Amino acid sequence: MPKIHYIQHDGGEFEVEAAVGTTVMQAAVDNGVDGILAECGGCCSCATCHCYVDEAWLEQLPEPDVMEKGLLGCALEPRDNSRLSCQIEVTEALDGLVVRLPRAQY
Ligand code: FES
Repeated sequence: MPKIHYIQHDGGEFEVEAAVGTTVMQAAVDNGVDGILAECGGCCSCATCHCYVDEAWLEQLPEPDVMEKGLLGCALEPRDNSRLSCQIEVTEALDGLVVRLPRAQY
C-alpha cells in the first residue's frame, strides 16, 4: 500500500499505509493522525482537513475543482500548495506523498 507522510506543525511525523482509493484525509483519521479534523466527513464542506502538499508532489495531483478551490479560501492561512486532504485520492503513484499540517484548522 502507498505510504503517506504527515508532518505536523510542531515537526511531529506520522507515516501511514493508505489503501488505494481512500483519501489522504481518511487515511489520517483512520490512523489517528492529529491535526486533521475532517468535521464534514469528506463532503468538501468544512475545510478542517486542510493540508499543505509538499512542493515536489504538487504536479502529481489533479488540480482542485471549483468547490475545493472555493472552500480553501475558508481555511486558516491558505498557501499556494494548500489542498483539502479529503479531495486527494490515494493512488499507487502517490506512494511517499508528503503533506504538512497547518498549526490549526480554524
Ligand atoms: S473533510 Fe470536510 S472539507 Fe475535507
